[in-house]
Amino acid sequence: MPERTLVTGALGCVGAWTVKALLDDGEDPVGYDLGEDDSRLRLILDERERGRVTLVPGDVTDGDALGRALDEHEITCLVHLAALQVPFCRADPIRGARVNVVGTVVVFEAVKQRQNRISGLAYASTTAVYNASDPSPAPESGGTSPTTHYGVYKLANEGTARIFWDDEGVASIGIRPYIVYGPGRDQGMTSGPTLAMAAAARGEPFEIGYGGTAQYDYAPDVGRAFVLAARAATDGAHVANFPGEPSTMEEVVAAIEAVAPQAAGKITWTDERLPFPDSLDSELLERLVGALPRTQLIAGFRQTVDHFRLRS
Ligand SMILES: NC(=O)c1ccc[n+]([C@@H]2O[C@H](COP(=O)([O-])OP(=O)(O)OC[C@H]3O[C@@H](n4cnc5c(N)ncnc54)[C@H](O)[C@@H]3O)[C@@H](O)[C@H]2O)c1
Repeated sequence: MPERTLVTGALGCVGAWTVKALLDDGEDPVGYDLGEDDSRLRLILDERERGRVTLVPGDVTDGDALGRALDEHEITCLVHLAALQVPFCRADPIRGARVNVVGTVVVFEAVKQRQNRISGLAYASTTAVYNASDPSPAPESGGTSPTTHYGVYKLANEGTARIFWDDEGVASIGIRPYIVYGPGRDQGMTSGPTLAMAAAARGEPFEIGYGGTAQYDYAPDVGRAFVLAARAATDGAHVANFPGEPSTMEEVVAAIEAVAPQAAGKITWTDERLPFPDSLDSELLERLVGALPRTQLIAGFRQTVDHFRLRS
């Protein structure tokens, strides 16, 4: 039977790029998302590609609705990305827990009930499971004292995955991206570099709301990683850091200025460093899923700025 993958959170940034990777592989994917705003899919996919995507409106906390979508479309693989990001969990921790924690339990439960058909499950964890006191590079086995509700909820997801494997044999791979950038990255605590690239393409100034060193993950590469992980998740409950490129904020801004010289001197940042280690060990993911695309920062920034230029 050919693979048919359902992507929760398909209307988000990583969701849209995961859908794109599936389309590039010849699949006709199903997107499952609460929202109605398909602007990121429109940004990334051409009309013919959009015609091959089935969008099912639904809440990831609603097990019946999710189960119906999985059965009606004979889903064989699942990428679970639906979540509320740091600022939204901070503003409404109860809703954040419902979506990020309960929603993930619902996804695993739905897969458990369909193990005869659904062979693979990948889900998004996050670098926010770590805190600034963790060693750098942070070991992949680490991450025990997050400093945000969001990080605590994602750490709970990793525990949920482990228990579903131990008790029920539901295999999964969780991927921890760090700072995802690229077309479609327009919300969340670390969307600043992408918003700065959009401003640079318009020749406008922009202040990025954090500083320091972090890893940068190009959104199309992250989408590809989730597709590979869903197919490779046949055994165990693995959690792996995404192998992004560690860069200082000085390097990030210099790279933006290099690909958008009209932005020179217009991109600033605050000194506040993120509450995460500067860099992460990240060997496991390629061991689990095979070689990943590793777009260099400067190439990813150039493609992102070119993308915004074409649309401004
Ligand atoms: N963007 C990053 O830098 C980053 C870093 C680490 C981890 N992650 C994780 O990767 C995943 C994707 O991130 P993103 O940047 O695409 O996020 P995003 O905010 O762009 O997209 C999330 C999507 O989930 C949907 N959603 C929210 N609540 C839902 C619900 N109850 N039911 C169904 N859909 C719902 C939203 O409508 C949205 O389309 C998330 O789990 C996020 O926590 C992202």
